[in-house]
Amino acid sequence: MHHPLLAAVLAVALALVGTAMLATTVRHSAAAVSHELPESTRALLTAGQITPQLVRNGEKYYFNSCAHCHGTDARGDEGPDLHGLEISDRRIATVIKHGIKGEMPSFAKKHDDADIVAMIAYLRTLK
Ligand code: HEC
Repeated sequence: MHHPLLAAVLAVALALVGTAMLATTVRHSAAAVSHELPESTRALLTAGQITPQLVRNGEKYYFNSCAHCHGTDARGDEGPDLHGLEISDRRIATVIKHGIKGEMPSFAKKHDDADIVAMIAYLRTLK
């Protein structure tokens, strides 16, 4: 964690995800289906949690780690355009953490979860 505010935002985000997962688990347990949430429902951030400071931090990390492949304007270069991403926050976090084999490196060592939440906040401003 680089900042107490980011830590708080992350804690809230994780609590929300936990609550959502619990609710779905309860709903699904009768049907005995998988307890896995569909990717699209795993939102880490709600609009209200995306603060200007979080976005500025995310933009900084983006410029340091991502811009050389996705473009300084994130309109795409070697990597795709990141405007209007339709994948879930959870999926974006997974891509950043684990990378994409042969395409994009893993950033698990360079960026912690708070950094990743900030980058997702930034990416969500790109419409
Ligand atoms: C070495 C170049 C490279 C770097 C650095 C890189 N990416 Fe990527 N990224 C790619 C490529 C190439 C793809 C597309 C892979 C594919 O489609 O199979 C991709 C895919 C993605 C996707 C999935 C897009 C979609 O529509 O599914 C996201 C999100 C993403 N990158 C975010 C980032 C972020 C955030 C960073 C910085 C932390 C980053 N990337 C750094 C090359 C890179």
